[in-house]
Amino acid sequence: MKIAIIGGTGDQGLGLALRFAKSGEQVLVGSRDLKKADNAVNIIKNMLNDDDLPNVTAMTNEEATKNGDIIILTVPLQAQMITLKSIKDHVGGKIFVDATAPLEGCIGGKPTRFVDLWEGSASERSAAFLGEEARVVSAFCNISAASLTNIDEDVQCDCLVSGDDSDAKIPVMELAETIPGVRAIDCGPLENARIVEKITPLLINLNIRNRIKLAGIRITGL
Ligand SMILES: NC(=O)c1ccc[n+]([C@@H]2O[C@H](COP(=O)([O-])OP(=O)(O)OC[C@H]3O[C@@H](n4cnc5c(N)ncnc54)[C@H](OP(=O)(O)O)[C@@H]3O)[C@@H](O)[C@H]2O)c1
Repeated sequence: MKIAIIGGTGDQGLGLALRFAKSGEQVLVGSRDLKKADNAVNIIKNMLNDDDLPNVTAMTNEEATKNGDIIILTVPLQAQMITLKSIKDHVGGKIFVDATAPLEGCIGGKPTRFVDLWEGSASERSAAFLGEEARVVSAFCNISAASLTNIDEDVQCDCLVSGDDSDAKIPVMELAETIPGVRAIDCGPLENARIVEKITPLLINLNIRNRIKLAGIRITGL
């Protein structure tokens, strides 16, 4: 399966691309600017000490969406809609993963506060915009970029996965579990993304209060 990371040049997208590349997945690093995508691919090659890394390719966001089997959106909230508009025609019935955390920091406020969206969550906003054909899954929004790029350590965080299409969640959960330390948990329908996305500003708050970067969440008893 080809994994397209939209906004793969940013902290979160690059972190996910790095981990999936390390797991041997085919990764398409997307950007608005092909040169930025190229640069991100070079960073990944350097971090993995492999100049020839054959499974990571730089593309525009549109090309990555066209060529990917699983599309993962990793742009800030304020870029969500404009990015969705640019790739919508290529998403079709593919699995579309939204990793957006709606943080107040994206609209000039505090990163430790959640922004209430009309649709309930960023993932539901994607689903509303992309239409019924797209198989929208919410995942990766609680896993910090710092832990993803801390490449020699396991990621100490569960990946909480929500979505209305059970079959679409399975490959996303399998993909999440290629990251050492990550356990994927099916959290039910997409509307539960409105609970899961709210955990991220709490984790940012805990990072700031404790002067760390790797706060994550684990569900116990499962
Ligand atoms: N960082 C984290 O630790 C973390 C953790 C959990 C969830 N998340 C979520 O993951 C998403 C990405 O976070 P991030 O920290 O990686 O963001 P970021 O570094 O600020 O941006 C990611 C990429 O989005 C594109 N972008 C930025 N502004 C844009 C704009 N105005 N219009 C179109 N594209 C734009 C850029 O790609 P190009 O310029 O290459 O097109 C950029 O490299 C966010 O929704 C965030 O809530 C982040």
